Amino acid sequence: MLENLTAQPADKILALMAAYRADPRDTKVDLGVGVYKDASGNTPVMRAVKEAERRIVADQSTKAYTGLAGDPAFGDAMIDLLLGDTIARDRIAAVATPGGTGAIRQALELIKMAAPDATVWLSDPTWPNHPSIIKYLGMASKTYRYFDTDTRNVDFDAMMADLGGVAAGDVVLLHGCCHNPTGANLTLEQWDKVIALLQAKSATPFIDIAYQGFGDGLDADAAATRKVVAAFDECLVAASCSKNFGIYRERTGILMAVSKTADMQPLTQQTLQFLNRQNYSFPPDHGARVVTTILTDPDLRADWEAELEETRNGMLALRKQLADELRRLSNSDRFDFLADHRGMFSQLGTTPEMVEKLRADHGIYMVGDSRMNIAGLNEKTVPILAKAIIDAGI
Ligand code: LMR
Repeated sequence: MLENLTAQPADKILALMAAYRADPRDTKVDLGVGVYKDASGNTPVMRAVKEAERRIVADQSTKAYTGLAGDPAFGDAMIDLLLGDTIARDRIAAVATPGGTGAIRQALELIKMAAPDATVWLSDPTWPNHPSIIKYLGMASKTYRYFDTDTRNVDFDAMMADLGGVAAGDVVLLHGCCHNPTGANLTLEQWDKVIALLQAKSATPFIDIAYQGFGDGLDADAAATRKVVAAFDECLVAASCSKNFGIYRERTGILMAVSKTADMQPLTQQTLQFLNRQNYSFPPDHGARVVTTILTDPDLRADWEAELEETRNGMLALRKQLADELRRLSNSDRFDFLADHRGMFSQLGTTPEMVEKLRADHGIYMVGDSRMNIAGLNEKTVPILAKAIIDAGI
């Protein structure tokens, strides 16, 4: 049987992670996978996470199953964090999932059940695992243009023109904040226009939000998602706790499905639980319990928010340092976009050949589409990267 297998395409981001590990140069710089690193290159366990884990280990008296949706307290805490009181809680069905990717996968499975003929629209570019999972599930997808490689900003006219082709019942996947891979984001006024267009098209929005708190702050980063949730009868929201709680390997995420009315919520909830049961039965609990412990304890929450702010401001400072250094070296403002982008990533907007040159000549690792993880830099490596970019003739 196994001889019938054919090799599957390698994930570009994970392949880069392996190549970086294998590079013996001690001057190498990892701007690949989207994992936060502090100035010493470590991915620390956040203080509040450590403390929540201590409490859980001390107090937990059972490891018995929770429920198919996970601990309901996790759902409540995450809905509060992301949506606040934007809409009535009784319209929202929610299940814990293994990471944000698990939430995306379950959302797509739900779409397949509820609207098998729907086309899922993706930004071009997007996180490579979006089209990969969609293809794996045999679902139809189309892309809408998103990024202007000249200005390195959102190509809003092109985006709206392409979304003009959305058919009634189609699903449009939007990054809630901190667009991955570009770092370029819609303004709230542009979100209003996208919402109006998708309403006119009778489309269903599907928000993927994996970086709440990494852009402009916890509430500011949730603002677009809240606008969407408030505007539509139905929508899907996949959220990840990997980055903002730094609990990558705990696989902690949530899928929220908003129904038009509270009467429709139980069927949606039951379906999401059924999908969890089919795919992995009960979702992992540890990370979700850590998140719930932090969000429901005022002191732990304040400490988590403070550390998240330090992380966010650190990335903003690195963005500014890099833009300033490139301004100085290039005698131009053509890299100022780096300071305007938000989140962990910026797309440099150069060719795969240049990306390869940076890797071969300077040991600088970024994804082939020139996505850089800003958190992979520190004050000392920013000038090295800036010089390499100019030396390469980018
Ligand atoms: C990324 O985009 O680098 C992260 O979301 C990690 C991943 O799983 O690809």
